[in-house]
Amino acid sequence: MLGFTTAQLFGLLPLVAGTILMNGQEKVTSYPNTKFDLDATSFTSYAANASEISYQGRWDSKHVSWWSAPGLKFGFTGSTVAISFGNWTSDGVLVGYRIGGMDWQFTNVTASGTHLFVSKDTAGVSETWPYNPLTFELRVTNWAYGVQIDQVHVAKGEKLVKVSPASRRLEVIGDSLASGMYTSYEGLSSWGYALGAGLGDTEYSITAYPGICAADQDCWGNPRGQMHQWFYTSDTSYRASVMYGDKPEPWNFCKHPAADIVVINIGTNDQNTANNVSTASYIDALTKLIEGVHGKWPRAQVVVMSLWLGFYQAGNSYFPSASQGFEKEIYAMVEYFNSDAYLTAPVVWDGTKNKTTVLSTRADPFVHYFNTTGILQHNDIGPQWHPTDVGAIKVASHLIQYIRLTFGWELRATGPEVLHDTLYWNDEQNY
Ligand SMILES: *[C@@H]1O[C@H](CO)[C@@H](O)[C@H](O)[C@H]1NC(C)=O
Ligand SMILES: *[C@@H]1O[C@H](CO)[C@@H](O)[C@H](O)[C@H]1NC(C)=O
Ligand SMILES: *[C@@H]1O[C@H](CO)[C@@H](O)[C@H](O)[C@H]1NC(C)=O
Ligand SMILES: *[C@@H]1O[C@H](CO)[C@@H](O)[C@H](O)[C@H]1NC(C)=O
Ligand SMILES: *[C@@H]1O[C@H](CO)[C@@H](O)[C@H](O)[C@H]1NC(C)=O
Ligand SMILES: *[C@@H]1O[C@H](CO)[C@@H](O)[C@H](O)[C@H]1NC(C)=O
Repeated sequence: MLGFTTAQLFGLLPLVAGTILMNGQEKVTSYPNTKFDLDATSFTSYAANASEISYQGRWDSKHVSWWSAPGLKFGFTGSTVAISFGNWTSDGVLVGYRIGGMDWQFTNVTASGTHLFVSKDTAGVSETWPYNPLTFELRVTNWAYGVQIDQVHVAKGEKLVKVSPASRRLEVIGDSLASGMYTSYEGLSSWGYALGAGLGDTEYSITAYPGICAADQDCWGNPRGQMHQWFYTSDTSYRASVMYGDKPEPWNFCKHPAADIVVINIGTNDQNTANNVSTASYIDALTKLIEGVHGKWPRAQVVVMSLWLGFYQAGNSYFPSASQGFEKEIYAMVEYFNSDAYLTAPVVWDGTKNKTTVLSTRADPFVHYFNTTGILQHNDIGPQWHPTDVGAIKVASHLIQYIRLTFGWELRATGPEVLHDTLYWNDEQNY
């Protein structure tokens, strides 16, 4: 957390092009330019609220995206897809997109611009199997930036088709670690995304934002903590403050299906002494967040991850940071949620009303502890204190297997790319 301003760290500054060094090399950030001038006479256009468009993650009433890796998906006929973006789009933001089960492609999109994503030249566009009609999917890569959908266009006489939702739903609640800060494609290289997409047949939403605490206070410039902000549509970015000030839209839990599993990894910023969060405030906030999830989604299973705080060299080896971050207290809190004291009189919390309610019906246990110790080694953490791409993959892979063993979820991602640019290989057998 040293060497940069907090504004740089958490994307509070406007989008500016700069040289990114990745593994000491200049990172190539010149993606194909997809901007074009729409000739409306050759397209059939749909408004952003068309029922054929499925939005994933959190989008507000103006069809502006928030948090990490928000996306949209629809089926379409023909071989053309273009999207017009609204003026609330972060100008130049990088998005990933693809058709069917083909690999992700990337392009920078513009505020108030129209971009052509699919044309007759797109690989796979003329194939009619296994996706028929073809599907189109788009996700925003950076947590601090977003897009606003204005219109979706297909070729004249063609149409959008609603795709059936996946059969399972996952929510990830976290901070920079879940949102993919400092990984290659940010949100699209995060363990939050790798978990949701990696399970397959799962709708996933990553309500994570860099620097945010569980405790409801300012942490690294984020004005509110997750015990409050999780109940709202927008995140704690500069962009949200410009658009909504301190009056964000509450998330409409009635209009959106409940998650089946909620994975929570929060507290790394609370434990940082710079933010002055006491252990008691942190545990109170995390408890309320879980009570909040239970109030909104009574049937959801909650997985609480233990924190990891990096490694240091000592003597001739490396060791995990001495404090593992509220380790005993988080474990004791999980035990409390599984105790008769809680289950006989379950407490739920509403973050928009700042209100606690005690229910009169007994709850079944729903809080689980995921022990992260031993998953990451010192070289899985990058120079900026966050998991590398490989570190993110390790966290996601262990969570996927934990979810299979604990809840019986089969692994249903069976081929299409999840993580882009991770094909590391060797073609020499003798060298
Ligand atoms: C979309 O919004 C327009 C007005 O902005 C409204 O007339 C129309 O019914 C809405 N469509 C859907 C599918 O909600
Ligand atoms: C976008 O356009 C609307 C309507 O013209 C306007 O109220 C709003 O301030 C604009 N937002 C930005 C970021 O330019
Ligand atoms: C495209 O996005 C990348 C990643 O955010 C960024 O580094 C690059 O400067 C952007 N390019 C343009 C032309 O906006
Ligand atoms: C944390 O507390 C110290 C001492 O009370 C104070 O000097 C500092 O400004 C506080 N920091 C924040 C971020 O509130
Ligand atoms: C929430 O309620 C508690 C106790 O009733 C109170 O101390 C606190 O100030 C309230 N917080 C907000 C943000 O309203
Ligand atoms: C987490 O795993 C580590 C390594 O196996 C173990 O030492 C520790 O006791 C575990 N923590 C809990 C709370 O089970």
